[in-house]
Amino acid sequence: LNGEADPLRDRLAIAEKLARRAGGKAKAFFLNRDTLHPELKSASQDLVSEADRAIEAWLRGAIRKHFPDDGIVGEEEEASEGGSGFVWVIDPIDGTMPFLVGQPNWTVSLGIAREKRPVAGVIYAPMLKELYSAAEGGGAWLNGRVLTMNPDWTVASTTIGFGATQKATPGEVGAFVEALYREGGVLFRVGSGALMLAYVAANRIAGYFDPMLYCWDCWAGMILVQEAGGIATFDGDLGRPGPIWAGNRHVHADLRRLSGAA
Ligand code: IPD
Ligand code: CA
Ligand code: CA
Ligand code: CA
Repeated sequence: LNGEADPLRDRLAIAEKLARRAGGKAKAFFLNRDTLHPELKSASQDLVSEADRAIEAWLRGAIRKHFPDDGIVGEEEEASEGGSGFVWVIDPIDGTMPFLVGQPNWTVSLGIAREKRPVAGVIYAPMLKELYSAAEGGGAWLNGRVLTMNPDWTVASTTIGFGATQKATPGEVGAFVEALYREGGVLFRVGSGALMLAYVAANRIAGYFDPMLYCWDCWAGMILVQEAGGIATFDGDLGRPGPIWAGNRHVHADLRRLSGAA
């Protein structure tokens, strides 16, 4: 625009570059995963390895080099504040469990927030060779192709992503699955919440519900869904996890109702 700098587009372009480079580094770990030493976090299926830590450290260094004044919130390190109003919300590997067991469905997820609201995001799935990106007002894209969600789908049109981990209670999981199947819905799950949100934007699943995510799991994906014409709402914030619902406006409302939220 008349040579004027656009701070958000600048960051989106850098985020795409960094996601690809981080994804390449993560892929090298993935191909040698037998040499990693996974450690337990909160439960038997909540793990972290050298790969998660190395990719986050590399991303933080690269972001700081490009935008020294931006804040960074990520899964594996303490948050660092900045003065620019922009905060990078990063998950170096979303889907550590699939990564460690050799499934291809893991991603690098980079969200960009302005005044504590997600405004842009990139999700890169190296093994699937898919780069998803979106910025407020600029549409949602998969490998250079624009994404537009089907506005007519219901929860029964195709599968629904459900992200419950061991953090959810058996009762919560059972109640949601029962409610979904009563409406003709069918469950879908891969171990990356970011990828399931990208799949909502790409019409690969009709919607997504997770009872508890952190901002680094979902802020990039929320912008993708919104820019593809859908609705994504999150009852958490930068510092607090919460449930998330995503779909077109019918599916979004139905998932909230089926999960007991509205
Ligand atoms: C996990 C994934 C998973 C979701 C979990 C997250 P991680 O992230 O997004 O889909 O259900 O709640 O913790 O630990 O693999 O980065
Ligand atoms: Ca984790
Ligand atoms: Ca995650
Ligand atoms: Ca992670």
